[in-house]
Amino acid sequence: MMKKINLNVNDKHYAIEVDIKESLLDVLRDRLHLTGVKQGCSVGECGACTVLIDGTPYNSCIYLAMWADGKKITTIEGIEKDGQLSKVQQAFVDEGAIQCGYCTPGLVMTTTALVESGKKYSDEEIKREISGHFCRCTGYQKIFNAVKKSLDE
Ligand code: FES
Ligand code: FES
Repeated sequence: MMKKINLNVNDKHYAIEVDIKESLLDVLRDRLHLTGVKQGCSVGECGACTVLIDGTPYNSCIYLAMWADGKKITTIEGIEKDGQLSKVQQAFVDEGAIQCGYCTPGLVMTTTALVESGKKYSDEEIKREISGHFCRCTGYQKIFNAVKKSLDE
């Protein structure tokens, strides 16, 4: 069964028809060609597909596209401004927190939400907040440093 939905993705409006079983991840990657959103496990375990929905991080692989009707979606493509990396993106570069890069967009989006919350996070809270993201390359210390740097600036 198909359903018409309206999405605001990275400040662009889309009126599209989706299958009611279609994930937001598939719509973003396959229909809107926002391939910065990565597909890993497809079952809500790895965090690679994380996007912001009305400012809150969600695993888009287990979020139905029809649930996003009328909502504001932000992907990694939507956070640089005038060709400049966001401060979170820059912190990941500066701290060497990127190797293959597959986990990076999801981690950057979660970190962006932490920064935008305006709250202070202890080291333990930071670890808990990013614990839903798997990285097979970095050993996590550099990622932790990048998140901390993003929050400290
Ligand atoms: S691809 Fe969505 S959590 Fe792994
Ligand atoms: S940098 Fe390769 S999975 Fe994280």
